[in-house]
Amino acid sequence: MRVLILGGDGYLGWATAMHLSRQGFEVAVVDNYFRRRACTELNREPLFPVPNLHQRAELWESLSGCPMGVHIGDVCDYPFLTSVFRSFAPEAVIHYAEQPAAPYSMRGHREAIFTLTNNLVSTANLVHAVQEHNLRCHIIKLGTMGVYGTPNIDIEEGYLEVDYKGRRHTFLYPKTPGSLYHLTKVQDGDLLYFYCRMWGIRVTDLNQGPVYGLDTEESRPDRRLLPIFNYDDVFGTVLNRFLVQAVAGVPLTVYGRGGQTRGYLNILDTIACVKLALRQPAAAGQYRVFNQFVETFSVNELAARVQAAGQELGLAVEIQNIPNPRLEAEEHYYNPVHTGLLSLGLKPHYLTADVLVDMLQTVLDHRRSINKALIFPEVQWGSGEIDKRFLGAGRGPGDASRSPQPSCQAA
Ligand SMILES: NC(=O)c1ccc[n+]([C@@H]2O[C@H](COP(=O)([O-])OP(=O)(O)OC[C@H]3O[C@@H](n4cnc5c(N)ncnc54)[C@H](O)[C@@H]3O)[C@@H](O)[C@H]2O)c1
Repeated sequence: MRVLILGGDGYLGWATAMHLSRQGFEVAVVDNYFRRRACTELNREPLFPVPNLHQRAELWESLSGCPMGVHIGDVCDYPFLTSVFRSFAPEAVIHYAEQPAAPYSMRGHREAIFTLTNNLVSTANLVHAVQEHNLRCHIIKLGTMGVYGTPNIDIEEGYLEVDYKGRRHTFLYPKTPGSLYHLTKVQDGDLLYFYCRMWGIRVTDLNQGPVYGLDTEESRPDRRLLPIFNYDDVFGTVLNRFLVQAVAGVPLTVYGRGGQTRGYLNILDTIACVKLALRQPAAAGQYRVFNQFVETFSVNELAARVQAAGQELGLAVEIQNIPNPRLEAEEHYYNPVHTGLLSLGLKPHYLTADVLVDMLQTVLDHRRSINKALIFPEVQWGSGEIDKRFLGAGRGPGDASRSPQPSCQAA
């Protein structure tokens, strides 16, 4: 199967590209180096440098014998994207090519408009390219569990069946995203759902939780094949940040009270889920949604696990609650369904002490490159007077008595 990976230079895209090419898929990657440029512009360089995409693809081919096509360009540039479709004729596209950082999207006007434009135009261009070149091409788009927010009821897998005044209808599950980035992931999902109904395209939307991990089987033979790994306040995901903080001897920065609970997964499971979706595609006209995570943790639980793993390696790891730069419920109900990928055959990797120790060891190899100035959060979500009741689940009469009171510390 010919698989085009949009965003193939990124954290998830590169690891996916290597794995799929080794599994016998014919792989081409597209990237415009936005992520690298943004890291340099904001002075938030990754933990270690990685070769450019051409160099990595050449190195990968020389080690594995698996070729990988490389196309440098912007998915928002429609003539560029259609030229890739013409030359490669993908049968499936994995869409990672979005601005993926919530703090970046909340940083200011320029970053907000970029996030909106980039994430929606890239998705709309992809849909049109599929319609123009091969309507059967399966789109796998990376969404995020963050689209749902933290409602005070169970989170279903994409859809919610509603009984209302004696009648029944199934809707997309209501969304309450907590950043502009997350809002664009609601909107790109809406775009895809719309075109499934209009044109009969086939789409799998993977609502993924925060990913952790560095090494995959493919990167182990040569350190230059590791993915881009950020640990800073803008681009780093929470567990990756904690691991670097533990090694740097900086207290783990728990935002607010630390009761924020999310579903997490290992980068190995991201790759496995994408591969399962490729092999068992959505039907024509189907907008298929999976909640892609393996286990849930509160931020406090994550910090405690990293502290314990650090102690195994003789690291003295402290934990510090700092004012929350985000506006979010810090204690809330959280029970998302995530059976879809398991029923497709996912064999989850869990966050064991061994996994944490292994990641800490990789970070320890790069401890001299850690810039401690990148650790404390700079981007604040808001400065207005906010009624904290509106941060949690939607409020109607009677809700307040059943819901834990969310709290936040506005900037
Ligand atoms: N990493 C996570 O924990 C996580 C969790 C949930 C969802 N996701 C989603 O997964 C996807 C990939 O995330 P990631 O962590 O690998 O991010 P990343 O920033 O490392 O990778 C995205 C890549 O896409 C490229 N890109 C962005 N816009 C582009 C454009 N217009 N044209 C061409 N290339 C473009 C970037 O340069 C980057 O290399 C994103 O859509 C993100 O929202 C990631």
